[in-house]
Amino acid sequence: MEKPKTKKAEDFGGKIQPGQIIKSNTVSYKAGETIGHGSFGIVFQATQVDTGEVFAIKKVLQDRRFKNRELAIMQMLSHPNVVSLKNSFYSTSPEKPDEVYLNLVLDYVPDTVYGVVRSFAKAKKPVPIIYVKLFTYQLCRALSYIHGTGICHRDIKPQNLLVDTNLGILKLCDFGSAKSLNRGENSVSYICSRYYRAPELIFGATNYTTSIDIWSMGCVLAELLLEQPLFPGESGVDQLVEIIKVLGTPTKTQIKAMNDSYTDFNFPQIKPQPWDKVFKKGTPSEAIDLVKRFLQYDPTKRVLPLEACTHPFFDELRTQGTKLPNGKKLPSSLFLFSSQEIQNNRSLYSKLVPEWARNSTLGNSGSNNNSSSNNSNPAVNNNNNNGLGGGAAPGGNGLGNGSNGGGGGADMDIDRKKF
Ligand SMILES: Nc1ncnc2c1ncn2[C@@H]1O[C@H](COP(=O)(O)OP(=O)(O)OP(=O)(O)O)[C@@H](O)[C@H]1O
Ligand SMILES: [Mg+2]
Repeated sequence: MEKPKTKKAEDFGGKIQPGQIIKSNTVSYKAGETIGHGSFGIVFQATQVDTGEVFAIKKVLQDRRFKNRELAIMQMLSHPNVVSLKNSFYSTSPEKPDEVYLNLVLDYVPDTVYGVVRSFAKAKKPVPIIYVKLFTYQLCRALSYIHGTGICHRDIKPQNLLVDTNLGILKLCDFGSAKSLNRGENSVSYICSRYYRAPELIFGATNYTTSIDIWSMGCVLAELLLEQPLFPGESGVDQLVEIIKVLGTPTKTQIKAMNDSYTDFNFPQIKPQPWDKVFKKGTPSEAIDLVKRFLQYDPTKRVLPLEACTHPFFDELRTQGTKLPNGKKLPSSLFLFSSQEIQNNRSLYSKLVPEWARNSTLGNSGSNNNSSSNNSNPAVNNNNNNGLGGGAAPGGNGLGNGSNGGGGGADMDIDRKKF
């Protein structure tokens, strides 16, 4: 299921020893435990020495030929549901002095959707539906925001969704595969982890849109409900078989919508399975309805993420007094929309922000970091008129709509092969 782990932690600039002091040009960090290692780097916990603040540092080998797209993209993003970049610096190690590593200092978030699903499944308990709502809603918000800037994440999966169950917060991470998609420009189709790959990618489309992320989000919602992947394909082709077993064989029109140039398609005719048979008895019908709206063969038919936020499945989040399982309030950022987020979706505003939340003093509950505001109307944060979001974008480098997502021009897609 995971992308191949081709390298060990030690390959990334020497093993990080807990207690080791890491110096950036301005700040020193004390390394803690390694949290994760993938094919492109390692992530470890670190404490800023002078303040005691805890962060996660993602250390990746930097290819000198290319500008790091992950850094460039993270620098321009600022949203309560996107992990925020606090600092970045380069380092080398005495063992491999020729190799340069990029260190991304990120907010530390204790768990992932992957970890939460696994621990409830292990305990033979369903994931509390309030978490399913909160996580899906906040993922919709994150996708609506990044898609609004032209960026497609291209690797939405439970491991890349950081969560804090204590606060009910979700933050999207891992922009290592993300890219600014521009009409008329092609992008590689061998992107996105297998179980979460949109069918147009399996059909080899190179002119896909940000709606590939919406498909992946549908797979994540289904997994939160099922506690196992909905489409556990064993290979690229088998992935399509898994999808067809549920959605039925796509029609000619649907295939055309996925990949215009794909004509010789000869799969046996399979009927779609009724969606309520896919899920356990007792699964809320609104949840199933939302899954259905995300998992459409035709990419243009997938519900847009901000519109999805208005779906009745999320009404409980908009009900005054709804609490987390631990009795705490829901995150204050749920109804805090920047003007950038809402500008093309004014008509959704009255549904997105319940009346009771419009003039209350939300904002600074301490449960969210980068989107508090003293605005008299907390639901619309008008401070962001730079088109990028609330004042982050340290060292913005002009990346965004109209660039090819790398800032430096070279397309590193080829290096991001997942399988
Ligand atoms: N800010 C963070 N706080 C806590 N844990 C994190 C954070 N960022 C990442 N992690 C953990 O580290 C894991 C790997 O991080 P990430 O997904 O960014 O790297 P990766 O999968 O190796 O990236 P890539 O796809 O670029 O190789 C995550 O799945 C998560 O468990
Ligand atoms: Mg990852």
